[in-house]
Amino acid sequence: MVQPINISTIKIGLIGTGLMGLPMATRLIAANVPLVVYNRTVEKLEPLRSTGAEIATSVIDLLQSCQGVMTMLTNADAIREMLLSEEARPYLNDRTVIQMGTIAPSQSHHIQDEIMAAGGTYLEAPVLGSISEVNAGKLQVMVGSTPEQFDRWLPILQHFGIPMRIGEVGSASALKLALNQLIGSLTTAFALSLGFVQAQGVEVETFMQILRKSALYAPTFDKKLQRMVDNNYDHPNFPTKHLLKDMTLFLDEAIALGLQVDSLAGVRKILEIACDSGLADADYSALFAAVKGERMKNEE
Ligand SMILES: NC(=O)c1ccc[n+]([C@@H]2O[C@H](COP(=O)([O-])OP(=O)(O)OC[C@H]3O[C@@H](n4cnc5c(N)ncnc54)[C@H](OP(=O)(O)O)[C@@H]3O)[C@@H](O)[C@H]2O)c1
Repeated sequence: MVQPINISTIKIGLIGTGLMGLPMATRLIAANVPLVVYNRTVEKLEPLRSTGAEIATSVIDLLQSCQGVMTMLTNADAIREMLLSEEARPYLNDRTVIQMGTIAPSQSHHIQDEIMAAGGTYLEAPVLGSISEVNAGKLQVMVGSTPEQFDRWLPILQHFGIPMRIGEVGSASALKLALNQLIGSLTTAFALSLGFVQAQGVEVETFMQILRKSALYAPTFDKKLQRMVDNNYDHPNFPTKHLLKDMTLFLDEAIALGLQVDSLAGVRKILEIACDSGLADADYSALFAAVKGERMKNEE
């Protein structure tokens, strides 16, 4: 029988204090979880210094003191750079890595294999929701693991929301990408209709009134409407470049599965245009600027 971890006897590590990692760390510290944090860019650890978090000087320093290590990093390359360097590998022995960023299922499997070859164990726990859901403890935490790993690490994961075990490693990454495909496709579809009604001279509020009463409506439309109408993509929770990353991951996996992905290839193109026009770090609703294209230039 596998025992849940006892946070009064072990330390937990978190690598990556970006947009999501920072509030996740803050939440764990507020719950008195003994947390050790590390981030490549040291300045991003500053807000945590006064909160009682232990700051590691390197990944190896963190691995030496923590039995369980969460990663909230951009992509698989970043995870490799942090954990799978020649120097860090020996320190993975007897450690558990909980991968929480959005990566492809195939990448998750490869990382698991390498961590296990180094004597560690691995599970994935990607999340749906953003900074406000972290702060409210309402992330949807999708876990790809054995049932025993799920039970063991639940005391940590449940600080972020209600974790659900999806299946083995790979299953949660796949589900997360499927959901993000909807973020990209729904937002692009909405942006195109919004741009169209604006260009045709139909009142945006009239469009929304009809849409809200119909089965076509998705709440995400209203979440992004004001930003699009105002062309205001500052202070992102989820930047355009990360949505582009996720559409690319989805496309690669879906093509390998023999799915027809032309519609999503169009979405990716729009996100590429947005990123190339300087909106990579803006809120992903900036894809509306790319949808408007030449029209937008005329408005300026
Ligand atoms: N933002 C959201 O709403 C949201 C929601 C769900 C899931 N996600 C996913 O969660 C992950 C993190 O997202 P985020 O929004 O927190 O991203 P972010 O703000 O861009 O932070 C990315 C983190 O990864 C680190 N990093 C990137 N490349 C690295 C490398 N080569 N070596 C070492 N560290 C590296 C960054 O370190 P530096 O500070 O040194 O650059 C930073 O700590 C992504 O996979 C994203 O798709 C995001």
